[in-house]
Amino acid sequence: MGKIWAGRTSGEINETADEFNSSIMFDSRMWREDIAGSIAHTAMLAAKGIIPQADAELITEGLSGILGDIESGKLDIDTSAEDIHTFIEQTLTARIGEAGKMLHTARSRNDQVALDLRLYLKGETDQVIGEIKTLISALTDKAEEYKAAVMPGYTHLQRAQPVTFGHHLMAYSMMLLRDAERLSDARKRLLVSPIGSCALAGTTYDTDRFFEAKELGMAAVCKNSIDGVADRDFCIELCADLSIIMAHISRLCEELILWSSWEFKFIEISDDFTTGSSIMPQKNNPDMAELIRGKTGRVYGDLIALLTMIKGLPLAYNKDMQEDKESIFDAFDTVKSCLEVLSGMISGIKANTGNMLEAAKGGFINATDLADYLTKKGVPFRTAYKLSGEIVSFCVKNKKTLDEMSIEEYKTFSEEFGDDLYEAIDLKNCVDRRNSYGGTSIASVEKQIEYVKKAIQ
Ligand code: ARG
Repeated sequence: MGKIWAGRTSGEINETADEFNSSIMFDSRMWREDIAGSIAHTAMLAAKGIIPQADAELITEGLSGILGDIESGKLDIDTSAEDIHTFIEQTLTARIGEAGKMLHTARSRNDQVALDLRLYLKGETDQVIGEIKTLISALTDKAEEYKAAVMPGYTHLQRAQPVTFGHHLMAYSMMLLRDAERLSDARKRLLVSPIGSCALAGTTYDTDRFFEAKELGMAAVCKNSIDGVADRDFCIELCADLSIIMAHISRLCEELILWSSWEFKFIEISDDFTTGSSIMPQKNNPDMAELIRGKTGRVYGDLIALLTMIKGLPLAYNKDMQEDKESIFDAFDTVKSCLEVLSGMISGIKANTGNMLEAAKGGFINATDLADYLTKKGVPFRTAYKLSGEIVSFCVKNKKTLDEMSIEEYKTFSEEFGDDLYEAIDLKNCVDRRNSYGGTSIASVEKQIEYVKKAIQ
């Protein structure tokens, strides 16, 4: 295809340079948005009397035809075109003749590409929000199933206090809920229309930017035309939000990997989400979880690429900005596939509740409850804490757990100990008494489940 910008120069460009300059290989995915933007632009040009109504009708029909033909596979996107904007405009003119040449009145590819990208990312953002909700729903269903399953809660990866598996899973639901909220918030700044900024300075034509924004379902119009074409904050902001999602799901995946190891054996990942080894017949590898963990770096890389691309860039449009697309598209593609795989994997997870409980019995994770028992008998917490530490040390030396100690042994540490102690340090009771807001008790986790279910409706 010839160059739309031939005129000042011949439009003949070195073949290697042409290929290097071209973006159609990655921006062609915005064809729907490019056509939608052009249809709205045509409607505005006609409404304002900038182009004749009859030509506007021809253009709109032509654009609709192109849309339908790409959709049906009748028209292939010609990758020899410089970019998707050029391809659509040149195809239109080839089909309808002179009227096609009016389409680019009061517009530049600078505001056109900014518009296309915002519209395209709106669809991607909505998809990711939907996929986050699916994952939250899978996690919350699992949490419901295991709201009574006692397991060790960890700090420093050392057994800390008893929690339930349901409580632990709900922590991830809360993280993902924030992720969805963050994207919804970024969406407000995304749906601001840059079209009509033109090359950078606005236009001498009597355009109506608000009309065009409304046609495209955008709530606002950017208020400065230079900012309109120079701004890529929306890419960076979305990519930062996607990076946080990856941080969250990589933590979950790391836990899935640990929990499914022989060392833990807390969970089993269903066979349809694991792989075998080509040499070790016994292996059942958590590849999907590892890949999600691994792909996190890739999305962070996309964010750094975007931040670096924009850094120090003079206003307004610079060709550097063409680099925005591959990064933000890759980030969305990656996050979407990770969320989809993870939702399926979570739904099929089975917990070995017996192993979880066994692990919870070791490691003295009810030592805080032992101290709290004394505190409730009037011993100051710091004293109770010290005594409990000494009791744990005694147990370690004598190879006992806290519930295996006799009351006589306890009384050598403090006269305050009585028979009601055993009930106080029973693991299930330890869990169920942590009924503070957000705590691990069954009732508290049920409230969390209810909250999250409502929030994703
Ligand atoms: N392919 C270009 C991009 O993605 C479109 C805008 C071209 N504008 C220009 N002044 N050359 O940034």
